[in-house]
Amino acid sequence: MIDFKEKIAEEINKVLELSKDEVKSFLEIPKDKKMGDYALPCFKLAKQMKKSPVIIADEIKEKIEMPNEYISKIENVNGFLNIFINNYVLIKDLLDEMDQQKENYGSSKLGNGKNIVIDYSSPNIAKQFHIGHLRTTIIGRALYNMYKFLGYNTISINHLGDWGTQFGKLIEGYKRFGNEYDLSEKPIDKLTEIYVRINELCKEDESVLEDCRNNFKKLEDGDPYCVEIWQKFKDLSLKEFERVYDILNIKFDYYLGESFYTDKIPEVIEILRKNNKLEESQGAEIVNLEDKNMPPLMVVKSNGSTSYAARDLAAILYRVRTFDFDKCIYVVAYEQNLHFKQVFEVAKYLDLDEKYTNGLIHVPFGMVRLKSGKMSTREGTVIKLEDLLNESISRAKEVIEQKNPELENKEEVAKKVGIGAVIFNDLSNNMIKDEVFDWDIMLNFQGETGPYIQYMYVRTKSILDKENYSMDKNLVDITELEERGMELVKELYMFNDIITQAVEKNEPSIISRYLIEIAKLYSSFYNDNKIIVEDEKVKNTRLCLTYMVGNVLKIGAGLLGMEMPDRM
Ligand code: ARG
Repeated sequence: MIDFKEKIAEEINKVLELSKDEVKSFLEIPKDKKMGDYALPCFKLAKQMKKSPVIIADEIKEKIEMPNEYISKIENVNGFLNIFINNYVLIKDLLDEMDQQKENYGSSKLGNGKNIVIDYSSPNIAKQFHIGHLRTTIIGRALYNMYKFLGYNTISINHLGDWGTQFGKLIEGYKRFGNEYDLSEKPIDKLTEIYVRINELCKEDESVLEDCRNNFKKLEDGDPYCVEIWQKFKDLSLKEFERVYDILNIKFDYYLGESFYTDKIPEVIEILRKNNKLEESQGAEIVNLEDKNMPPLMVVKSNGSTSYAARDLAAILYRVRTFDFDKCIYVVAYEQNLHFKQVFEVAKYLDLDEKYTNGLIHVPFGMVRLKSGKMSTREGTVIKLEDLLNESISRAKEVIEQKNPELENKEEVAKKVGIGAVIFNDLSNNMIKDEVFDWDIMLNFQGETGPYIQYMYVRTKSILDKENYSMDKNLVDITELEERGMELVKELYMFNDIITQAVEKNEPSIISRYLIEIAKLYSSFYNDNKIIVEDEKVKNTRLCLTYMVGNVLKIGAGLLGMEMPDRM
């Protein structure tokens, strides 16, 4: 599509002794749309040109040749050069693009040839998949879709937490009390119970703790019995996790849990040692990061077992070699900020090309808070993700039951709306902010919510279906668009830009805010203008706009991971 900013910079560059990039950096987008699409604040040039902004603006205005392919009007308002782009050219370009790309409108080839690894979701086995993992799961999937849409080769990895000394305890607990439990039902609840019991025993009896330690050692050494039990925990957990992924419609390219890297850690240790980065400290092996103003990173614990961080370092080596990544993105709560800062720092000591160490990116996000406060495993108020999603679906069903009792496929629609509400709520604000979970707000069809986006989409769809509409760009008459319609057209034109920005910042909320904007604009356009009118020209123009809005809402929501119902 046409880069109008670039074109305007070119025009100005022709008449000013200033590089195009400089002009571009000065161009602003006025807050008030009446002041044009772009503005050049000429006071920024006053010093070097030794003239007043008003005079500079006048001179530039005089020199730019009009009429111009890309600019329709230029105004000088107190030294601000307000530039109006040529709407005819813009809308023609939009129509061509939309017509050609259809459900791929907004996509690009920007990322062709680049590999992006996204490490997300990554729950811990034998523990509840709880709402603390909600955000990584939803944000990670959105990023995955966004990168893919821009042509990147995208690889998703579920870095399951399936290793660590706690499995020594769990194995011991299973040995002692396993026969009291039927693990074919609610296995994770039962494993959690076993874990609590063995922990209590450990506190009472030092020798039990010793047994636990030995179990983990045996597990690391591949003892068949320990491995078998551990594998059982893993299979049972994965089956539970899959149910959540099914509800959310998520698939991973790879499940490579922490255990996968255990045999790859010796190489990490070897390289660190060769580079003189490993130090002994109270029996543990650490990398000192004092000069980076960070606490040391523990690689091998004093009991000889490897650390979470060591497995992350081994995973970096593996990902570099296997996926040759341009970026390796970790979607993990901000509570692990320090962990990733340390790991990324130590990765620089692994003899990797800078391309890789620069490509390591932690995308942090805030906590989920219910209105009642923080949730944690320790407080015993864990909320299972599956329960939460099902709750949202059943609440959505209630709302639908009230609003539209006649609706067909209520179950299916309730699922899309309930899940859509959770996803949108999660992605509608800047990620680093804590997320507040409030059902009444999330499921409100009129608020800035997922259901609102879906509702607006359904409206466009029912209008188009009634008319059996399929897009015909030749029937659009730009003079019939009116101000609000044109504003909408310009927003729709920005879609690829928006996705690109969202990818650059790894911030899906840029897309959700945009969708809200589109939905609101369309809603007010629709309130003031009947779509289906006598006049064919007007009707076709408004129908086309309706189609484009619906299309962009659906594509954008799809990137976030939401599905659109046809009716609701
Ligand atoms: N399993 C960890 C947790 O639940 C998250 C893992 C994140 N990924 C990583 N490569 N460290 O906190």
